[in-house]
Amino acid sequence: MCGIVGYIGDEQATPLLLNGLKRLEYRGYDSAGIAVLDDGKISVAKAEGRLANLAATANIRGNIGIGHTRWATHGGPEVRNAHPHLSKSGRFAIVHNGIIENYKELKYFLELRGFEFVSDTDSEVIAHLIDFYYVGDVITALIKAACRLKGSYALGVICSDEPKLYAVKKDSPLVVGLCEKSTFIASDMQALTDKTRNFYIMDNGEIAVIGKDARILNMNGEPIKKSVYHAVWDNAVAQKQGYAHFMLKEIHEQPQAIKRTLDAHMNSSLDFLDGINSIHIIGCGSAYHAALMGKYIIESLTGIRVNADIASEFRYRNPIIRGDDLLLAISQSGETADTIGALKIGAGRCKSACIVNVPESTLTHISSPMYTLAGPEVAVATTKGFTTQLLNLYIIAMNLLRRLGDDRYKLLEREIYSLPSLVSKTLALEPQMQQLGVRIAPHDYAFFIGRGADYAAAKESALKLKEISYVHADCYPAGELKHGTISLIEKGSIVVAIATDRALLDKTVSNIIEVKARGAFVIGISCFDLSNVCDVTVNIPRATFVSPLLATVVCQMLSYYTASARGCDIDKPRNLAKSVTVE
Ligand code: F6R
Repeated sequence: MCGIVGYIGDEQATPLLLNGLKRLEYRGYDSAGIAVLDDGKISVAKAEGRLANLAATANIRGNIGIGHTRWATHGGPEVRNAHPHLSKSGRFAIVHNGIIENYKELKYFLELRGFEFVSDTDSEVIAHLIDFYYVGDVITALIKAACRLKGSYALGVICSDEPKLYAVKKDSPLVVGLCEKSTFIASDMQALTDKTRNFYIMDNGEIAVIGKDARILNMNGEPIKKSVYHAVWDNAVAQKQGYAHFMLKEIHEQPQAIKRTLDAHMNSSLDFLDGINSIHIIGCGSAYHAALMGKYIIESLTGIRVNADIASEFRYRNPIIRGDDLLLAISQSGETADTIGALKIGAGRCKSACIVNVPESTLTHISSPMYTLAGPEVAVATTKGFTTQLLNLYIIAMNLLRRLGDDRYKLLEREIYSLPSLVSKTLALEPQMQQLGVRIAPHDYAFFIGRGADYAAAKESALKLKEISYVHADCYPAGELKHGTISLIEKGSIVVAIATDRALLDKTVSNIIEVKARGAFVIGISCFDLSNVCDVTVNIPRATFVSPLLATVVCQMLSYYTASARGCDIDKPRNLAKSVTVE
């Protein structure tokens, strides 16, 4: 949520800040702004809406600057709430990612001392607070202000008195990008991989002071020795490479992403599984759907109890956690606030691990990481991030089977190795999905059904459709419809039925017949022949264990082409942000 960027060097800051913000726009796109320092004067430009609006008007000269792209929390998406925020004296400009929980109390404190507020944001207090504590030394003012802030923050700060760039971090991601003649700060490495591969990954309670060189200090103002992290992500992957949208490109990258991920883990020992008796898997949105699928896969194959939970629920429901449990968090970004919060409640009580895509993200520092090697995912709706999460769950199931001395691990292993080619074959169904997308596009709602792991696949598929095409999609276990929802089915209602499990096939077919009898138009997704019960059948490649994963790949394309036919902004759906760093 929100992205920040900063630059100091010999070049003009404005185009570099805009470039960094473009690469961070997936974190929020309600409004954007930059502040640039030139010859002791700070100038600010802000614009409502997409970054293009700012780029069209921002023309500020200067070699030091900060920028922000916003996902509104406190205060609507208006120019006056856009960052950077200036302090009362105009001496400081700040950009902030995070939430200041005690901003009301601080605002009251500052108002009593004559500070006037021009925005409804929590962030503006930071600019005034630094100004309040400033008596000629920026570092002291930053430390004093930071000590008063409760909540999370990644801050970029400039001061008109000094040609320097400052950054402060607590519980929101922040990196310093080191180039030969210049230095950047940003919310993540992805913003800067076209500029450098060398980074300081900032930890909580650290301040970066960047002038001719970059120094990192602790909250006592003492220097810290940081090692340089060399990023592995390739800049080319974060480009569209001829595809109309990042989402389509990322859908097509899945065979390689899966191959890289399985190569990394098939022979690893997965030590976090040692001695565990049951597993809690937690995540939000699609990552929760991966968790749910993981529950079906791991429980049915291994007999080990698995609880799948939405992270925001798990953290506040006082769950039963035993010493021999494994708490497994799933997150593409590794920065989702609820997932981090949920993982932390297990601290010291049981083992914890995480399935994460972004290297060096917060989750990887608080639990054992099992990376997905999907590479940068830019589209807001996850695709290759999701399927590589499922792959890691299959690999965990296989590893557990092997530990249990169950020979079925060999069958699963063989199928996992064939997954890149099965996904490639599934992608060949794209023309059919394009036609079906056009068929669904005029509808306002659709229903998804499935049983077992197919239910988890159907839930993910319904989310994908509604988030990018705004077609409302409801998902049910196939046997549940008759307990209420079937009253909504009428002539022409779209029902997508996923039926890949032979053991449950007859049951799901009965449910398909029930909705057909009420006039529904049924799209069946299966590796079995459903042509006699469905209006359209999508035949995915035959597989034993991984078919639900293949069904989600089909539905990614279905959602994409529905959204495309409806003329939606596919990579940046309204109201969303890719990295959800607030509760
Ligand atoms: C949906 C989607 C979201 C994310 C969710 C969790 O397409 O991308 O539902 O899955 O916000 O994000 P991560 O995986 O970064 O924790």
